[in-house]
Amino acid sequence: MLLNIEDFRRQARKNLPRFVFDYVEGAAEDERCRDRNGANLQALQLVPTCLRDTSTIDTSLTVFGQRWNAPLGVAPVGFCGLVHPQGDKFLARAAASRGLPFVLSTASNTRLEAVREAAPKGLQWMQLYVMSDRAIAEQLIRRAREANYGALVLTVDVPVSGYRERDVRNGFKLPFRPTLRTLANLACHPAWLLRVARYGMPSFVNLAESQEAAASAQVQAALLARAMDRRLVWESLAWIRSLWDGPLLIKGLLHADDAARALNHGVDGLIVSNHGGRQLDAAVATIDALPAIADKVGARVPVFVDSGFRRGSDIAKALALGASAVFVGRPAVYGMACGGEAGARAVLQLLSDELERTMTLLGAATLSDIAPHHLFAGSTPSFAWSPT
Ligand SMILES: Cc1cc2nc3c(=O)[nH]c(=O)nc-3n(C[C@H](O)[C@H](O)[C@H](O)COP(=O)(O)O)c2cc1C
Repeated sequence: MLLNIEDFRRQARKNLPRFVFDYVEGAAEDERCRDRNGANLQALQLVPTCLRDTSTIDTSLTVFGQRWNAPLGVAPVGFCGLVHPQGDKFLARAAASRGLPFVLSTASNTRLEAVREAAPKGLQWMQLYVMSDRAIAEQLIRRAREANYGALVLTVDVPVSGYRERDVRNGFKLPFRPTLRTLANLACHPAWLLRVARYGMPSFVNLAESQEAAASAQVQAALLARAMDRRLVWESLAWIRSLWDGPLLIKGLLHADDAARALNHGVDGLIVSNHGGRQLDAAVATIDALPAIADKVGARVPVFVDSGFRRGSDIAKALALGASAVFVGRPAVYGMACGGEAGARAVLQLLSDELERTMTLLGAATLSDIAPHHLFAGSTPSFAWSPT
C-alpha cells in the first residue's frame, strides 16, 4: 500500500534500474545536505490552536494572477526521461490535473513546445540554465515565450555540477558508459529496457533550436559538452530581462543578502533551494535559510522553497516561516516511477490531502491562518549526523 511519500520512494527503488534510482535519489558528496533538509524539517514541531471553525479548508492561493489549488508545485527535474520516456509530459499533466504549477527543466527530454501541448491549460513555468554559449539560452527563452510559459525560473546554484558520487560509481555520465554491475542490474528491469528499445535513450532534445537540429549527433555532442556560464552575474539579469518580460524567478538562492539583491535587479519571485542537496553538500538546509529571506523580501515578492519536503505538515511549517508555497522534485518522480502520470498525480493529491488535514488539526482554515505562532519556539532544527 502506498500511503505516503516514503512508500512511493521504496516502491520506486524496486521499479527502477539501480543507476536510474541513484540518479534521482543521489545528492552531492556525503549527501548530508539532502538528509539535513529532511531532518531539520522533521525537527520543527507545530503547536495547534483549537476550537476554530475548520468546516471549510481553503488551500488555494493566487500567484502572478493565477490560481493554484494548493501551495505546492513540481520542481524542474532534468533528464527525467530516464525514469520514463514520457516523463516530462507525465509530470506536466499530473500537475495540471491538480491545478498546480509545473516547472519544465532546461535539461528536459521532451521539447518545451510538446510539453506545453500535452497540458495546454496547465500552469507551466520554464526553468533556465545559462550555458557559456548564451545563444542556447536566448533561443530557449524565445521559444518559452512563444509557447506561452507563465514564468521563467533562472537556476543559479549550478555554476558547476555537484559531485554526485553515486553517479560516478555507477558509471552514469554522458555519453553513458555503464559499469558491469550496472549492466547486470539492467537485466533485472526488462520493462525499462523495452521502453528504451522503443523510444531510445533520452537526450537533451530541448536544447537545440529545432527537432531536426536536436537529432543530429554533432549537435548532441556539442550540447553534452556544454558548460555553465560562470560569468553570469547579477548584472546579466538585464540581458535576461530584455528577452523575457513575464514573471522572472531565481531558484537556488540561500543568502538573505542575495534575496535583497535579486529584488534590486527586478526579480519577481524567489525559490529558496539547495537543489535537493545535489550541489554544495555543506549548504544550509532550506528550512533554516527560509526565515531570514522571507523576513527580508517576503512582503514584496512570493518566496517559494524546495528541498526535502515529504509531508503536508512540512508544507505547513514552511508557510509558518513565511513561504508562499513549496515545490517538490523527487516525490513527483517517485510517483511517476510507481504509476506513470497517475502515480505522479497520486503523490500530488497525497501531499495536498495531508496539508488539508494538517490545517484542520492546526485550526487554520486558510493559508493565511498559518502563522509563526504555530511553530513551537523550542524546536531545535539542528541535525545530528551519525555514520552508518
Ligand atoms: C533528478 C533531479 C534532477 C534535477 N534537475 C534539475 C534541473 O534540471 N534544473 C533545476 O533547476 N533543478 C533540478 N533539480 C532540483 C529540483 O528542481 C529541486 O530543487 C529539488 O529536487 C528539490 O528537492 P527534493 O527532490 O527533495 O524535493 C533536480 C533534482 C533532481 C532530484
